[in-house]
Amino acid sequence: MIEPREFARRRKQLMRIIGDDAICIVPAAPERIRNNDNHYPYRQDSDFHYLTGFAEPDAVLALIPGRTISGRDRGEAILFCRERDLEREAWDGPRAGQEGAVSAYGMDDAFPIGDIDDILPGMIEGRSRVYYHFGRDAEFDIKLIGWVNRVRALVKRGARAPHEFVALGHILHDLRLFKTRDELRLMRKAAKIACAAHVRAMRATRPGMNEHEVEAELLHDFRRHGAVASYEPIVGGGVNGCVLHYRANNAVLNDGDLLLIDAGAEYDCYASDITRTFPVNGRFSPEQRALYDIVLAAQRAAIAQIRPGKAFGAYHDAAVHTITAGLIKLGLLKGSVDKNIREQTYHRFYMHKTGHWLGLDVHDVGDYRVDGEFRELEPGMVLTVEPGIYIAPDAKSVAAKWRGIGIRIEDDVVVTRGEPEVITAAVPNDPDEIEALMAAARK
Ligand code: GLY
Ligand code: MN
Ligand code: MN
Repeated sequence: MIEPREFARRRKQLMRIIGDDAICIVPAAPERIRNNDNHYPYRQDSDFHYLTGFAEPDAVLALIPGRTISGRDRGEAILFCRERDLEREAWDGPRAGQEGAVSAYGMDDAFPIGDIDDILPGMIEGRSRVYYHFGRDAEFDIKLIGWVNRVRALVKRGARAPHEFVALGHILHDLRLFKTRDELRLMRKAAKIACAAHVRAMRATRPGMNEHEVEAELLHDFRRHGAVASYEPIVGGGVNGCVLHYRANNAVLNDGDLLLIDAGAEYDCYASDITRTFPVNGRFSPEQRALYDIVLAAQRAAIAQIRPGKAFGAYHDAAVHTITAGLIKLGLLKGSVDKNIREQTYHRFYMHKTGHWLGLDVHDVGDYRVDGEFRELEPGMVLTVEPGIYIAPDAKSVAAKWRGIGIRIEDDVVVTRGEPEVITAAVPNDPDEIEALMAAARK
């Protein structure tokens, strides 16, 4: 859990950045229908969560820096949220209500969400800039325009309407990019849960099982530890491991094939993101092992680049270099490393980037480039390192023995002042260790 005072500190920080004549408006995630009257599991909007820790739908945060109409001069955090309603709460569970928003969530004031049309225009009045995520939620965009127009209608009578509308993403997401100590604690926990689940899946896998049975092992372990999947797990045996976003998870696992599992746990809204690839029968074939060793070497070369001051692109370049050199050595590419990199021939076998920011979102927010150039890594950033090699089952001009092999190894890494911290090291990626773990599970 993150303490209310950390959420308050984030709100203050954002208010300081946007300035005294601004207002910032952040809505909670809407509930989404899955079918008929049945909802998807509710997941709070990551930005809203980052600023409030408030898990209910039907809520709007308004941050009003500087001197406010109620006379506070150090800014106010106002939450519009659902009112207490004992009858509804008997069906849906407890609500914080306005009192709870102040006492448990550290808001300066709170109002019923039903009163927002009457109250929020008065808070927008007199502010020159509105910070908001335009275009993310069309329904909410229209509401916001309505509130601003209410203020505009009063301009003749002396009201001042905002004249600048600023995208909130850039500022807020730069804050989210740097994880605090408390956030890192949760991310290590999400990573630990996912590691245990991957180990469980490795131990359980046998030829003849179905992919969904292995998926069940992962989900069982996530839920056992109070986590959920941070994205739909990919459990792909054999050629399915070559499908980057494979989600069917319904094929039988064959003796002699590899199994690629890309699955992460989300704990208290923080994601982990792990991929392991291992032999269904517990032993790598020589071809599988040769390709696996290249991917692992690429990952190690990439992780060595995760240091403060290195450009974000450096670790991808290191992975590409190792993969290209490895594929040339095995005869899958021809010519020099430089030429193959220049002509991007490796793209046929390694077609994605080596990783992304990780945090409240699996593909977390934050700019990768500043003024067109890759930004430098700084302590507190968290990213994934996930090189792979995928030889399509119908790859022409490739010897048959390599075809249909898909391998990815993905770990989560914290940028520190010194050595990179791999927070997902508790599930082995060394092929000998994987074989030993699987052999021990078969005794
Ligand atoms: N699981 C999504 C990714 O690896 O980026
Ligand atoms: Mn990833
Ligand atoms: Mn992944």
